[in-house]
Amino acid sequence: MISPIRLPPAKSKAPNDSNQQELAGTMASPSPQRKKLRILLIPFFATSHIGPFTDLAFHLAAARRGVVEATVAVTPANVPVVRSALARRRGHAAVEVATYAFPPVDGLPPGVENHSAARAADAWRIDAAAFDERLMRPGQESLIRDRLPDAVVSDVHFFWNADVAAGLGVPCIMFHAIGAFAMLAIFNLLGAPAAEAAGGGVVALPGLSGPDIRVPVTELPELVRSQRPDGRATGARVSSAHKRCFGLVVNTFFDLEDRYCDMYVRYGYVKRAYFVGPLSLPPPPQLAAGDDGSRCIDWLDRKPARSVVYLCFGSLTHVSEPQLRELALGLEASGMPFLWVVRSEAWAPPEGWKERVGDRGMLVTGWAPQRAILAHPAVGAFVTHCGWNSVLETVVAGVPVLTWPMVFEQFITERFVTEVLEIGERLWPEGAGVRSTRSEEHELIPGEAVARAVARFMEPGGAGDAARSRVNELSAKALAAMAEGGSSHCDLRRLIDDLIEERTAGAGTTPLLLV
Ligand SMILES: *[C@@H]1O[C@H](CO)[C@@H](O)[C@H](O)[C@H]1NC(C)=O
Repeated sequence: MISPIRLPPAKSKAPNDSNQQELAGTMASPSPQRKKLRILLIPFFATSHIGPFTDLAFHLAAARRGVVEATVAVTPANVPVVRSALARRRGHAAVEVATYAFPPVDGLPPGVENHSAARAADAWRIDAAAFDERLMRPGQESLIRDRLPDAVVSDVHFFWNADVAAGLGVPCIMFHAIGAFAMLAIFNLLGAPAAEAAGGGVVALPGLSGPDIRVPVTELPELVRSQRPDGRATGARVSSAHKRCFGLVVNTFFDLEDRYCDMYVRYGYVKRAYFVGPLSLPPPPQLAAGDDGSRCIDWLDRKPARSVVYLCFGSLTHVSEPQLRELALGLEASGMPFLWVVRSEAWAPPEGWKERVGDRGMLVTGWAPQRAILAHPAVGAFVTHCGWNSVLETVVAGVPVLTWPMVFEQFITERFVTEVLEIGERLWPEGAGVRSTRSEEHELIPGEAVARAVARFMEPGGAGDAARSRVNELSAKALAAMAEGGSSHCDLRRLIDDLIEERTAGAGTTPLLLV
């Protein structure tokens, strides 16, 4: 047997330069200039995922200008979401956009490829399609084969990309757009018997250090709650893909979730872990709002410091009309100034409400510049659904929260925010009523409860102020993590170095005659 010529595996600290030359020299390659490290990123079809993936692409390209070429791959209808995320970045390094076809899905009209475009009743079809290997894999696999990148960064929905990449000898990295605490809780619950089978009631989140945290079964994500075997099987394949792939990147920072970050590699959830967030920092003031948002900022400019309650429930959450009505009445009764973003452009507040509230409240339907709002000194509290991007944004801005989780892992993230970080409180106290990730099970939160919680939290010297001093400390740590030499910045560069080393080592085991 003739053994192919192999290069020694790279071990040097700066493998890109030294080994490149070595490689070029050995091969007498016609192009001694080593190619860029080409990274292909594949997010799930939601703004809350495409945004952080695009931010990661931007940071990868910017951290090593001229070394990394990052491409975000989405289906055609989601291209505008990537473009608008890129538009927020000036001089957006070398971030490219690639597309693959969205497969036909029962119940979704052609061109409906994200939650925003789907009717509320059909939103689940987007999620179900995303986890469906038979549907989604072919388009993604041929894209990866065609482009043959040096690394694939995949959303967790698309667990098969670990196999696709491995088959091509390319490292695959999973990227989490939710926090370390919530994701570990879900992994651990997946390994435990289905929560509903465990007798209903309340479960203690297993296997997490720190405070004991108990969550009613109704508040758990569907994947770990239900006994449906297909859901459990998908969960098992997601965690197995994590164990096998090259590593994990999380949009969080070490000082925020230290004891949970530590668990990933130590307990074998993944081989390598990189904590690179918060990937989205507030835009510079002159770019803060843009035309659409300046109305909000102008209004905030007229309010006293820390007086305004800001409310927004994210891009994915549908709030029912009766609940919107209770919220409106509650905010009116609270007596507090408020800035409230309602996603539905069709909804109108109760008769006479606008007149009664007057300039004390501002209602925005559709889009609002959340990061600029949170950064505004007039904002004193944030009523949030606990989507991870919102949690990171409020941490960066140093604004304490009242929590109102609705779906997915949001109730778990709520526990992290209120019981671990203690940067806020539940809006609807424990025992007040049934909350659930299934909207038909969730009881209506009455207007009086909203009014009481908001007014209490905003009292000077009260819970809001105590939470604010804790979140302010975290804010400073978040900025330090992202700055040159900070933990997230170092992890980002370590990821790039590891990928370059992997490519060089991979080249070393490839028969050179075939290169
Ligand atoms: C969703 O898809 C539509 C096309 O159906 C597209 O116009 C829109 O930009 C996408 N938006 C978001 C926010 O996901």
